[in-house]
Amino acid sequence: MNEDELNSIKDKIKREIEAAKTINQLNQISRGYLGKKGVISRLLKELKTLTKEERVRRGKKINELKCFLQEKLEEKEGLLKKEETKQEGAKFDITVPGRKLKVGHLHPLTQVKRKVEEIFQSMGFSIAQGPEIEDEWHNFDALNIPPEHPARDVWDTLYLREQKLLLRTHTSPVQIRYMEKHQPPLRIIAPGRVFRHEATDARHEFQLSQIEGLMVEREISVANLKAVLSEFFRKFFTKDINFRLDPDFFPFTEPSFNVSVTCVICQGKGCSLCKKTGYLEIAGAGMVHPNVFKNCGLNPKEWQGWAFGFGLDRLAMMKYRIDDVRLFRSADLRFLSQF
Ligand code: PHE
Repeated sequence: MNEDELNSIKDKIKREIEAAKTINQLNQISRGYLGKKGVISRLLKELKTLTKEERVRRGKKINELKCFLQEKLEEKEGLLKKEETKQEGAKFDITVPGRKLKVGHLHPLTQVKRKVEEIFQSMGFSIAQGPEIEDEWHNFDALNIPPEHPARDVWDTLYLREQKLLLRTHTSPVQIRYMEKHQPPLRIIAPGRVFRHEATDARHEFQLSQIEGLMVEREISVANLKAVLSEFFRKFFTKDINFRLDPDFFPFTEPSFNVSVTCVICQGKGCSLCKKTGYLEIAGAGMVHPNVFKNCGLNPKEWQGWAFGFGLDRLAMMKYRIDDVRLFRSADLRFLSQF
């Protein structure tokens, strides 16, 4: 083997690679030269028969040939790949209408919750949280709900077997947890899930979401509660909406009220949702009972406060004019995709 032979191999490589039309052919050429039994291996084996000097010189040449070959192969591979994608591009019909992307979004209850949070935050309220599994102290005793109170009945409360724990029946225990840890004055809202052992119908679910509100100051009255509620409704429904406070009873507030707004479904005319009253109750509220302050280690002679508990589902029903609460958790996309 001499120089000429190496040169003619080089020429052959050039020609063959130039002629290759597919990546497959290119791979075949590569194997033919670089494979175990390929031309380059054969050349390297022949080195053994040479003198040391010649071996060094020839070895260098063979290496150069190998580099040349690899370079050419890569270059051609790039070209062939480009062509392939070009051809595929030609197969692509840009006039075919695209597939519509389905974009997900937040659940309507989450949207409403965030809106409520935003409004109260703009009025200086912070957001507090508490556990969904509660003890009797926070869910009942501390809220001035005595052991014989009907709400404790198993027909309302879902008790857990262990350690007298239960699924909280309202978000009011967050009031207690917050006042145990923080000194007034304070303003919080506490959104969260609550659970009740109830049969479900168009207005009742056994799992619902509430938003608790609590404001404690040295001097504060029902007038203040009304002002905050009216500001909230104006921002939430983006218009002035009629609401009213009716006397009610909760063990943890005195006096107590329930808050109703004009039924948006029938605009106050009376429908099945508002039981023909024209109003829909959406919150309980009242002035914090002195015993509740005492149970949190606060002096009721020093502090006054009001609290409310909204049904988040009810708020959402009013905002979006939905007449069946069960739809929210039905996972029905025909319903959910409307928001
Ligand atoms: N916790 C009460 C309920 O679940 C609502 C409420 C909250 C009432 C705060 C008064 C004050 O019905």
